[in-house]
Amino acid sequence: MNGSDRGLHSRRPTIGVFDSGFGGLTVLKALLEVITGADYTYFGDTARLPYGSKSVETVARYAIEAAHYLESHGAQMLVIACNTATALALDQMTAAAHVPVIGVVEPGAEAAASATKNQKIVVIGTEATVSSHAYRKALESRQLQAREKACPLLVPLVEEGWVEHSITEQVARIYLAEAFADGFHDADTLVLGCTHYPLLKPLLHRVTPGNVSIVDSAESTAHAGASRLRQLVPAIADGEERRSVPRFKFFATDSTEKFRRLGERFLGHPIDNVEHVDLKE
Ligand code: DGL
Repeated sequence: MNGSDRGLHSRRPTIGVFDSGFGGLTVLKALLEVITGADYTYFGDTARLPYGSKSVETVARYAIEAAHYLESHGAQMLVIACNTATALALDQMTAAAHVPVIGVVEPGAEAAASATKNQKIVVIGTEATVSSHAYRKALESRQLQAREKACPLLVPLVEEGWVEHSITEQVARIYLAEAFADGFHDADTLVLGCTHYPLLKPLLHRVTPGNVSIVDSAESTAHAGASRLRQLVPAIADGEERRSVPRFKFFATDSTEKFRRLGERFLGHPIDNVEHVDLKE
């Protein structure tokens, strides 16, 4: 049944969105722009974040638990919003799931391939995402050259709310100067390979050379999710459900109050309905 369309006969499917924490709400936000005819169940593993500094084994174990949790709460398609979980464990999650699974790396690489003119791409992400070389492999398989750069300080700066802070700008300048060095000084595309980076888009536009296109993997993933869903649920393609209002359920493994408070910044509107989940180690 792996990757099957079990349960997707309903005209109003439930999409499960998984992330290590709050950042995946940027992907949920992008999904809401393109798929309104669905309900959403979001799982943020806030008690065990960050994933970006953890091993493949640990991230895969956590991610599979989250996938099972979302499925057992009615998710009929899974969107793995977390770049780290996608990069390290997409195959394992797909094998463990009974519903279609979409990750962020392939849609991000595809969007970069469309955006670039000189086939040179820079990808920024967590340590774990960069060490996995998932983006590089996805880009090289499209005959593109890729430089990956870990930017571990950016996640805590975004969570601190410093998205327009001079310190964040300085840090971003240093990382990007290193990334766009040597053979990549003329790269023309920057892929945001981490859930938190879409909040830094205005700042990143300022600190990258003017000709560089910024690819937001959250947006590319939302479009990939929408086209997959259109194949699976024809009513969505008809637009029959377009005007309906999505229902949300949020699950967090740490404080629901903190999830609400930080989450609103990522989602761009108030969050209620957060339930605490206790996943055993
Ligand atoms: N969600 C993670 C990602 O997109 C960033 C936060 C973390 O390290 O857990 O890679």
